[in-house]
Amino acid sequence: MDVTGKYGIVTGASSGIGKAIAIELAKNGARLILADINYDQLENVVSEVESFEQKTVLCRVDVSDQKSVDGMVEVAIDNFENIDFLVNCAGVIGASDWGSRPILNDQDWDLIHQVNVRGLMRVTDAVVPSMIKRNYGKIVNIASIAGRTGSVTNVAYATSKAAVINLTQGAASKYSENNINVNAVCPGLLWTPMWEKIAESQRAISDNKDQVTGREVFDEHVKNRIPLGREQTPEDIAYLVSFLVSDYSSNITGQAINVSGGSHFN
Ligand SMILES: NC(=O)c1ccc[n+]([C@@H]2O[C@H](COP(=O)([O-])OP(=O)(O)OC[C@H]3O[C@@H](n4cnc5c(N)ncnc54)[C@H](O)[C@@H]3O)[C@@H](O)[C@H]2O)c1
Repeated sequence: MDVTGKYGIVTGASSGIGKAIAIELAKNGARLILADINYDQLENVVSEVESFEQKTVLCRVDVSDQKSVDGMVEVAIDNFENIDFLVNCAGVIGASDWGSRPILNDQDWDLIHQVNVRGLMRVTDAVVPSMIKRNYGKIVNIASIAGRTGSVTNVAYATSKAAVINLTQGAASKYSENNINVNAVCPGLLWTPMWEKIAESQRAISDNKDQVTGREVFDEHVKNRIPLGREQTPEDIAYLVSFLVSDYSSNITGQAINVSGGSHFN
């Protein structure tokens, strides 16, 4: 999907889905600020992104920290002058040892909401003024199927993603008069570092923990929950994000679109 000459920011760009989005957007002609809390890992992504010969700038950002977010926007404006699009992909499933607890604690809830909800909105609020100035912008928020269905194992995460769908609708209404499209993508099940951690925590508490691998735990979820019978890939998500960033989607706003192999129909 052609996004030639567009300037934008991808948060969570150092890993999994965010990395695939960055590569796809660069392949399609975008110039990018690759932003993530994990700067070292960004350096591993940049060579792949730069192979498409688009200007790329790396930026360490903690989306839960206002100063850090303001710094990222400054870097974007200094380098690109304008910000045409923002992809909010940074996300967490809990504090570092969340998988060892039967019930999520305050630390897990706070971190999940600080990053997935407040952080996403913090970045949006910081970027939007530059879009309003030009009466143009595209914002894509990475939500989750969990935000539609709830979750028995990670309630805090699922509610954060329901909030992402909801705030997408609010922001779409608010900024429609500024010609800013705001949409969400709801991925299903992807074997990224995030799911590797989930699978490992589920394996560790299962009755046959010594007989199964994390990957087999994940495959079982895919078999039971995805009608098309296959996992989603980071590239599946990136294709839709690229469409939503492009001008081919200019009449779509306030939508949350599933990429989940038919696991859920609305
Ligand atoms: N993997 C899945 O099955 C799945 C399904 C639905 C939705 N998602 C969502 O997709 C997005 C990407 O997830 P992923 O699967 O690629 O996981 P991932 O763990 O590979 O990537 C998440 C990225 O966010 C970054 N990040 C975390 N906290 C941050 C912060 N405070 N500031 C800046 N960056 C931060 C991490 O460093 C990492 O690079 C997340 O929002 C996740 O909730 C994933």
